[in-house]
Amino acid sequence: MKADISAEIGGLILKNPVMPASGTWGYGEEYAEFYAPGELGAVVVKGTTLEPRQGNKPPRIAETPAGILNSVGLQNVGVEKFISEKLPFLKKNKCTVIVNIAGDSVDDYADVARRLMDEEGVSAVEVNISCPNVKKGGIAFGVNAASASVLIKSVKKEYGRPLIAKLSPNVTDIVEIAGACIDSGADALTLINTVRGMSIDINNRRPLLPNCAGGLSGPAIKPIALRMVYEVKKATGADIIGVGGIECFEDALEFIMAGASAVQVGTANFYNPMVMPEIIAGFGEYLEKNKIGSVKDLVGVAIR
Ligand code: SIN
Repeated sequence: MKADISAEIGGLILKNPVMPASGTWGYGEEYAEFYAPGELGAVVVKGTTLEPRQGNKPPRIAETPAGILNSVGLQNVGVEKFISEKLPFLKKNKCTVIVNIAGDSVDDYADVARRLMDEEGVSAVEVNISCPNVKKGGIAFGVNAASASVLIKSVKKEYGRPLIAKLSPNVTDIVEIAGACIDSGADALTLINTVRGMSIDINNRRPLLPNCAGGLSGPAIKPIALRMVYEVKKATGADIIGVGGIECFEDALEFIMAGASAVQVGTANFYNPMVMPEIIAGFGEYLEKNKIGSVKDLVGVAIR
């Protein structure tokens, strides 16, 4: 019998549990020379706002020993251009499309969600309450249970398909924020966005990134992400997409065993464009070798 590598997340059925983290895989076209985007469980696109944004001043990226710091600032084409210029390619390639949405205010998020509700080619929204690189919105909504709740309720009113909340690790109690999002109507959670950090330019004697701090991603944050997935799954039972430092199939499997139903791969796409197909193949091989029927049978098995 062929192994079942499908996944289910917040009511969304995926052909496999692997997708890119928002902002690390463009809109799919950028990686099309390597493999067909429809091979992925889903495609999560760059944080999308009501109006186009230029993002932060350069430099926006700083290398660190085990990952990268970014301060992109939600540069994106805006929701209308996404729909007219980017979505057709993803639809043509039969992708399950998840749009990461962001804004300065509750109304901004609700407006973007309403606009996407009209587009059948969009399967879910991932509500970004965790971007650490913008002055308004983003993480400001995700560090407090009450503000997260108000935002998720407002988006839920506008968006009838699956709603996933992407949470920040830069909080004292991730379980409290996760619980507030689920109680307010989120169908699933993405854990985690980047961890706030900084780098100093010793020649210029100042912070390397113009915003001083940025978001750390890559292998350095994997243990933090795993711990948060584990804690939230154990406490809430919510459907979770695990993300943070996944570089290979074994990393992805750790997230599944910690309680994630699917995984996102971010930084690793930048140095290994084939990392996601490799992880998908790894799931099939592992299930067959260990005579396990389905990836779903492994979700949360490590929880004690
Ligand atoms: C950015 O655009 O600054 C990164 C996106 C995010 O952290 O959510």
